[in-house]
Amino acid sequence: MTTTIAPTLADKVARAPKAELHIHIEGSLEPELIFRLAERNGVTLPYASIDALRAAYAFTDLQSFLDIYYAGASVLLTEQDFYDMTMAYAERALADHVAHTEIFFDPQTHTERGVSIDVVVAGIERALADAEKQGLSSKLILCFLRHLSEEDALATFDAALPLFERYRHRLIGVGLDSSERGHPPSKFERVFAKARALGLKLVAHAGEEGPPSYIYEALDLLKVDRVDHGVRSIEDPALVARLADSRVALTVCPLSNLKLCVFDDLTKHTLKELLDRGVAVTVNSDDPAYFGGYVNTNYFAIIEALKLTDTEVYTTVRNSFEASFVTPDERAALIARLDAHWHGDGAQ
Ligand code: ADE
Ligand code: ZN
Repeated sequence: MTTTIAPTLADKVARAPKAELHIHIEGSLEPELIFRLAERNGVTLPYASIDALRAAYAFTDLQSFLDIYYAGASVLLTEQDFYDMTMAYAERALADHVAHTEIFFDPQTHTERGVSIDVVVAGIERALADAEKQGLSSKLILCFLRHLSEEDALATFDAALPLFERYRHRLIGVGLDSSERGHPPSKFERVFAKARALGLKLVAHAGEEGPPSYIYEALDLLKVDRVDHGVRSIEDPALVARLADSRVALTVCPLSNLKLCVFDDLTKHTLKELLDRGVAVTVNSDDPAYFGGYVNTNYFAIIEALKLTDTEVYTTVRNSFEASFVTPDERAALIARLDAHWHGDGAQ
C-alpha cells in the first residue's frame, strides 16, 4: 500500500510511547492461535482451515462480527489458553511501543461454556505480570455482555467480587459491550451503581451503532468515566460540546469502524471533527486480529485518511495518557516520556 504520511511522522508515531484504552483481549486471538488452541483442546471449529476462517472476516455490521468473534473464543478453555492469548497481545503491543494498556475481557463468554471466571482472570493476570517485566504496564476491565440479561450481569458481578479484591492492582473497572442496538445502557444501571459503590472505574460502549441517546444514558445513568467508540455523538452538537467541556474521553477505533461499516470509507470518519471541537479522542484497535491491525496500524490508517497534522497526532497520543486510569504520578511520567520522544532528541 502506498502512503502519503510523511516518513518522519509515521516513524514518530510508530515509536511514540502510547496507551491503548480499547482492546478486547478475545479480539486479539489471531486465526493461527485459534486453530492451535482448537487442536490442543479438541474443539471442533465450524471452519475447515485458517484461510477459511480468515475468509469469513467480511463483516456487514457489529452483529455479523460478534457471531464469529464468539465462535473464535470457544477454543479458550484452560488458564494456559488465556495466558497464551494475552501474551501474544502483549508482544504485539510492546512492538507498537504501547507503554500502558487497559484491556477488556468478557467473562460471560467463558462462564457460559463452563470455564470459571477464576481460570480466565488467573491466565490473563499471569501474562500481564510477565509482560510488566518487559515494560508493559496494564489494567484489566471486566465487561458485561449487553445482549444478556441484567440478572446475568448482576450474577457475574457478584461472582467477580473476590477477584476485584484479590487482583485490585490490575482489575480496576467494569465496562459494557456486545450487541448495542436494542440494549441501551439503562438496562445496566443497577449493576453499574454497585460497581461505582466499590470505587471501580466505569466505561461503556455507546454510540458505535447505537444513537446519541445511548451516550447520554452512559453518562447520566451509568456515570461512565470514558465512552467506548462514541462516534455517533457527532449527530448531536450539544452532546459534542458536553464531551469536550467535561473531557470525558472517547476511545475511538478507526479500523473497527471501517470493518463494521460504521463509516463506509475512512475519509468520512469523524475523528478529526471531534478533535477540532475539543473532544478528548484516543486511537485504539478494538479487536485487532479481526479488523486488520494493532494500534499503530490504526494510527497510520486514520492519519492517512484524514491528513492529520503532527500536532493533531501528538494530541491523540497525549489524550491516551490523559484518559487512562493510571495514578497522577504515573500519568506525569508517561507524558514526560512522550514529550521527550515527540519534542526532544528522539532518544525514546
Ligand atoms: N466486543 C468486541 N468488540 C466489540 C465492539 N466493537 N462493539 C461491541 N462489543 C464488542
Ligand atoms: Zn470494543
